[in-house]
Amino acid sequence: MIIAGTLLLPDTDGERPGVRLAEGWLRTDAGRIVEVHEGGLPASFDLGGDGHLISPGFIDTHMHIPQFDLVGAHGMSLLDWLDQVTFPNEARWADPDYALSMTERVIDQLLSVGTTSFVGYATVHHEATKRALGCCSRRGLRAVVGQVLIDQEAPDSMLRDADACITETESLLNDWPAQPEQRTQGNRVSTAVTPRFAITCSEGLLKAAGDLARKHDAYIQTHLAEMRPELEAVAKLHGGPDYTSVYHRAGLLSARTLLGHCIYLNDSERRLIAETGSVAAHCPTANSFLRSGTMNREKLIDDGVTISLGSDIGGGYERSMIRVGRSMIEATFNAHPGGVPSPSIAEAWWQITAGNADAMGWPDTGRIQENAEADLVVINPDIPWQTAHNPLGMVMFAYDDRWVRATVVNGEVSHSANS
Ligand code: GUN
Ligand code: ZN
Repeated sequence: MIIAGTLLLPDTDGERPGVRLAEGWLRTDAGRIVEVHEGGLPASFDLGGDGHLISPGFIDTHMHIPQFDLVGAHGMSLLDWLDQVTFPNEARWADPDYALSMTERVIDQLLSVGTTSFVGYATVHHEATKRALGCCSRRGLRAVVGQVLIDQEAPDSMLRDADACITETESLLNDWPAQPEQRTQGNRVSTAVTPRFAITCSEGLLKAAGDLARKHDAYIQTHLAEMRPELEAVAKLHGGPDYTSVYHRAGLLSARTLLGHCIYLNDSERRLIAETGSVAAHCPTANSFLRSGTMNREKLIDDGVTISLGSDIGGGYERSMIRVGRSMIEATFNAHPGGVPSPSIAEAWWQITAGNADAMGWPDTGRIQENAEADLVVINPDIPWQTAHNPLGMVMFAYDDRWVRATVVNGEVSHSANS
C-alpha cells in the first residue's frame, strides 16, 4: 500500500525530541513500513493526498477499558469517584460476554481517533481480562492489558484472594508474554502485572506482584501519588517513608513499570523513579477532571524521569491523544505560569507517538521510518493548515475527530471514515 501526503517524521536534531513535516510518501508491506521518500507526491497512491497529514498511530499509555462507559462523572475527587462510580461500573465485567463486547466497542472508538497502541487496565475479573486480551489480538492492535489486582479496601464485588490474583496473572503471562520472541508471529499483545494502587493491595500482594513481574520480565502498571488524601491513606496502611518506597520495597519499580499520575512526589521519590528507570505516565485530562493537581512534567524530566502520556479514560475524558497532547501543553504551562515554556507542539506530537513508544521500549513503532510497524493515521484537516504560522500547531489546537480519514493498524486499514 502507498500512502502519500505530508509525512510526520522523527526529528532528533533539537535539544528536546520532536517531529518534522515533509511532503512525501511511504510504502507498507506485510505490516511494516518498507520505504519512506521525501519529495513530491507519486502519480498514484492508495491513501492520503495533497493536504493530508500522515502521522504515526497514536499510543495511549494509561487507560481503563471498562471505564469508557463512565466518562463525565463530574464533581467527585478520586476516592469517592472510585467508590461511587468506578467500582460499580467495573463490577459489570463479572460477565465475560459483556467485557468482550465492550472491548470491541472501545477498540472501535480508539481506531476512530487514530490510537493504534495502548496500555490499559481491565478489571479484577480473570475471564473478562482474557476476553479483552483476545479481542485486542484479533483486532491487530499493539496492546498491553492487565488483570487488576485488589485484595483490600474495596467493595466485595472487587475483592479477590491475593494468591488467586497472582496465579491468574501468571497464567495470563504464560499466554501473553511481554517478550515478542515468546509470542506467536505477529501477535502484538501482552499482559501486565497490574496492582491497582497501594490502597487496595496488601503488602503481601504487592510483594508477590513484584516477584511475579521480575520472574517474567513483565510490564507493571499501577497508580502513584495522584492526590493528597490518597497519600495519607497509603501512609496509614503501609507506613513510610513515602508512597514510592512502598512500591520499591515490593520490587515493583523497574524499567518496565508505568506509574500513573506522579503528582505529589518528594525529591527522593523522583530520584528513586529515575534510578529504577520507571516511567511516569502523565494523565493531564484526568488530573484536571478529578481536580487532583498538576504533575510537574518539567521537574520530572530535569530529574531524569522518563515520561509517557495517557488518556486515563474514564477519570480522563478525552479519547483522542491529540487532545491529551494539547492538555499536556496546557498543564505544563499552568504549572509554570509565565515561566518555563510549555513543551512545543512538535514535542507534544512526539510524546503521543515515538515518545510513548520509547517509554514502552518499543523502538519499532510510533514513527515513520523504514522497518517500523505500519501503524498510521491519515488526517485531512478542513482548514488551510499547511500555510499556517505553525502548521502542526493548527492541526493540534483546531483538531476535529472528523478529520481522521483512515487508521492503519499493522499494515491494514482498520478504520476508514468512508466505511
Ligand atoms: N487510582 C486507583 N484506581 C484508579 C483509577 O481507576 N483511576 C484513577 N484516575 N486513579 C486511580
Ligand atoms: Zn488510571
